[in-house]
Amino acid sequence: MSDARVHERAPAVRRVPLVMLVASAVIACSACGASAGRRATPPATPARACARPDPSDCSLRQLATDHGVMIGAAVQPEYLSGSPDYARIVGDEFNSITPESAFKWESTEPARGRFTWGAADAVAQFARAHHQQIRGHTLVWANSTSAKQFTILPDYVAAAPDAASMQGLIDEHITAVVTRYAKVTDRWDVVNEPLETTGSQLDTNVLTRILGEKWMVRAFRLTHRLDPTAKLFVNESLAEGPGPKHQALMALVQRLRAAGAPIDGVGLQAHFLGGAPDRPGLEVVLRDWQSVGLRTAITELDIPTPNHDPVAQATRYADVVRACLDVRTCNEVTLWGVTDAHTWLNDFLGPGTAPLLFDDSYQPKPAYRAVAATIAASHR
Ligand code: XIL
Repeated sequence: MSDARVHERAPAVRRVPLVMLVASAVIACSACGASAGRRATPPATPARACARPDPSDCSLRQLATDHGVMIGAAVQPEYLSGSPDYARIVGDEFNSITPESAFKWESTEPARGRFTWGAADAVAQFARAHHQQIRGHTLVWANSTSAKQFTILPDYVAAAPDAASMQGLIDEHITAVVTRYAKVTDRWDVVNEPLETTGSQLDTNVLTRILGEKWMVRAFRLTHRLDPTAKLFVNESLAEGPGPKHQALMALVQRLRAAGAPIDGVGLQAHFLGGAPDRPGLEVVLRDWQSVGLRTAITELDIPTPNHDPVAQATRYADVVRACLDVRTCNEVTLWGVTDAHTWLNDFLGPGTAPLLFDDSYQPKPAYRAVAATIAASHR
């Protein structure tokens, strides 16, 4: 894999000034007009990012770059600008960032025709300043269960008077976001959670009910037309192991491709909230996707600490990262957050799950070292 090496042509910037939130929706986003490098030709012999004799002294970013993979984190712009420690970790440790919510429909166009780009622009600015790629999460997320919890689809979409206007809203939304951020985004989660959360049927969200699954085909085609070199993904939850949901996702993705959707890969969210990841099972799933010609990514990894045992957590993290790196077509591991102080699980499950690689005081945990050692030992 050369992707990550291409992205690392410029050295990581350490302790850079903080970005400022762009206040107005109408101010042009300077990060949006200039390429962060992904379309450039790679150098003949990429320099190693990590020159230290002991690889464990290197950042995750350096290690990932040397091994040709993406290591990412979901980020929130208010902390990028408000917490120097948070910003330093994000800049130093990751070669990719995912806007945790800043690119979502509810964030970018909460009222019809009223675009609010400040948060998304701040993420784009940060990525550009730190020579990182963005995973564009997510263009359309209409899952009926998640929508209720997170109000992820603005009400005016469900209230569209007819199918044609609803389709028009989707088209407009995708066009606005992809046009604005194509140059800093090399992967898009075009469709998030198309299946029901705990079952294995197609989710009966309002878009699928009214438009059928062809809205997804159209979303992929439109995104590809607007950003032809980006890799386009379906992103799904609870599909990291063999079983009915994995099978249903494979069937759906194959149907969408057969109907003309240019899908490059599948994102496995990997919120292992209920227990330990099943590493052999995860590898089966990753290889199944490989066998149908699709790449995979671990897109939202977090693992709560079982019995507050950071060593067991470290083993679980190593299992997931090793499973990905052992399968050639798995190119990315993205964490769903940066430190335990900022995890979404503090709201979703309550405080104390401590699911990430850095603790509340921004210190690396055993899980951090396990991930670093696993990448360092990878043969990629
Ligand atoms: C979550 C964010 O982390 C929360 O801050 C927000 O309130 C709701 O969305 N699956 C996804 C992510 O695809 O976008 C979700 O992110 C977590 C579950």
